[in-house]
Amino acid sequence: MEIITVRDNQALGQTAARWVAREILTSPDSVLGLPTGGTPVGMYHYLVRLFQEGLVSFGAVRAFNLDEYVGLLPSHPQSYAAFMREHFWGKVDLAPEAAEIPRGDRTDLAAECRRYDQAIERAGGIDVQVLGLGLNGHIGFNEPSHNLEVRTHVVDLTPATIQANARFFNREAEVPRQAITMGIGTIMQARRILLLVSGDAKADILRKVLYGPVGTEVPASILQLHGDLTVLTDIKL
Ligand code: GLP
Repeated sequence: MEIITVRDNQALGQTAARWVAREILTSPDSVLGLPTGGTPVGMYHYLVRLFQEGLVSFGAVRAFNLDEYVGLLPSHPQSYAAFMREHFWGKVDLAPEAAEIPRGDRTDLAAECRRYDQAIERAGGIDVQVLGLGLNGHIGFNEPSHNLEVRTHVVDLTPATIQANARFFNREAEVPRQAITMGIGTIMQARRILLLVSGDAKADILRKVLYGPVGTEVPASILQLHGDLTVLTDIKL
C-alpha cells in the first residue's frame, strides 16, 4: 500500500487527476472504475483541465461508475448519472457509449445487475478503480453488514448513509432508500486502486480502514488485501 498525503482538498484533486492521467497515458484504452460524491469533484475538474490543455485524451477509454440510486431516472438532477454528466462525461472526449453507469430506474433490477456485470466482464474487468470512502467505511454503496456481496447488487442504504447524502437533496425524505452498486469482488479485481479520502471527519474511519482488522463492518478494510492500493488523502494519519 502506498499512502500519499497532500495538504488540502485542492491538492488532492490535482494529484488524483495527474495519477489517473498518467495511467491513461501509459494505457490509452484503460478501463476505469469511477466514483461520485463530494471528494472526487476536484479530480474531475483537473482531469477536464488536462483534457482541455491537450495533455490527455479519453477517446479510447471505457468507464464504469460504481453505483446509482434506485428509482431515479438518469435525468434526475440528484442521480449519479447527472453528476457524471455535469463533472466529467459531458466535458471530455469519452465516447457516450463508453461511459456506463447502472440504471436504477429499471423495473427488473436483478437483470440490470447482471447486465452491468457482463458489460464489465466484456471490457476485460477494471484496470484502474478510483474510490471515495463513506463515513461508515462503505465503498461504492457496499454498506457495513454481516456479509459482503461479490458482484453488482441492490443494497438497502443505512440510516447513516441516507443522512450523509441528504445534503445533495432538498430533504432527507427525498434520498432514495436503495442503490445499485458494483460488488466488492469486482472492485478488488481491479488491477490498481486509488482511494481518495478528504477531511478530518473521516480521520477515524480512515485509520480503521487502513490499520484496523479486516471485516465486513468496515467494508473498505478489505482494501488492505489488495496488491496495488494507493491511498491519497489530506488527513494527517
Ligand atoms: C456516496 C457514494 C460513495 C462515496 C461516498 C462518500 O455514498 N456512493 O461512492 O464514496 O458517498 O462521499 P463523499 O465524497 O461525498 O464524502
